[in-house]
Amino acid sequence: MLSEIVGVLYIHELKTGVNSVGFAIIKNLPIGEVDVTPDSDIEYFNRTNRDRLSETILVGVGELLGVIFSYCNEKQGILVNNIVPRENSKNIQSSNGSSLVLPLHTEDCHQFPYAPDFIVLFCLKGEVGEGVFTNILNPRNIINSIPSNVIDILCQPLFLTTPPPVYGGRNNRIPQPKPILYGWNPEWQVMVEFNDTKGINHESNEALEAFKTACLESDDLYRLHLQQGDMVILDNNKLMHGRGGFLHRSVLSVAGFNVLR
Ligand SMILES: [Fe+2]
Repeated sequence: MLSEIVGVLYIHELKTGVNSVGFAIIKNLPIGEVDVTPDSDIEYFNRTNRDRLSETILVGVGELLGVIFSYCNEKQGILVNNIVPRENSKNIQSSNGSSLVLPLHTEDCHQFPYAPDFIVLFCLKGEVGEGVFTNILNPRNIINSIPSNVIDILCQPLFLTTPPPVYGGRNNRIPQPKPILYGWNPEWQVMVEFNDTKGINHESNEALEAFKTACLESDDLYRLHLQQGDMVILDNNKLMHGRGGFLHRSVLSVAGFNVLR
């Protein structure tokens, strides 16, 4: 069912929440000249030849969805965030890494209630074939299959999410315990990063593990192979996403940013 809607543009339906799937893909968008993959954010920030065409398209789509914004403590607050794996971080589970899987997560859930409503990714450099893949999962169906006592625990403030390293270090801020599940059936909102969220006791860790297992074993886990010129818009209130590992750091360059409705 999901594959049938790939390639269809539903920006308005995403914005209003009518699109129950929660994501849309636009293919074959034009991009300008994409330089070699830089090895650091500083190198990227200092560039004068960033691709203005793709950034303009990104900002235009973002403005159709809502208000684009960034966090001042993430990569110097740059608005259009170029996600380029770094050579010296390739074995780290992070957006700066490459060889390891980046587990399913809600974008910036450690910022909740100020997490983005949407994220928009625009592939500037991709790999043909299997290569790099992006995972997308709507966890709402899965939650219905979880025992109610586990749901009750996931709804309690028993979980800590450590900010990722791109926020300037994990030692600067002490996270406060929060729930993983917000809202009510069927409009559940999930705020979790499987890489960085931990329970504060044995019971909450068991509930988290049960939820994680149900997500990873789900038949609804959708695998998307982004290629040059592909844009994907994700509703961060409905979906989780992640990425597979890959061999060649230079094959991935994705520009993206956050949108508030
Ligand atoms: Fe992400």
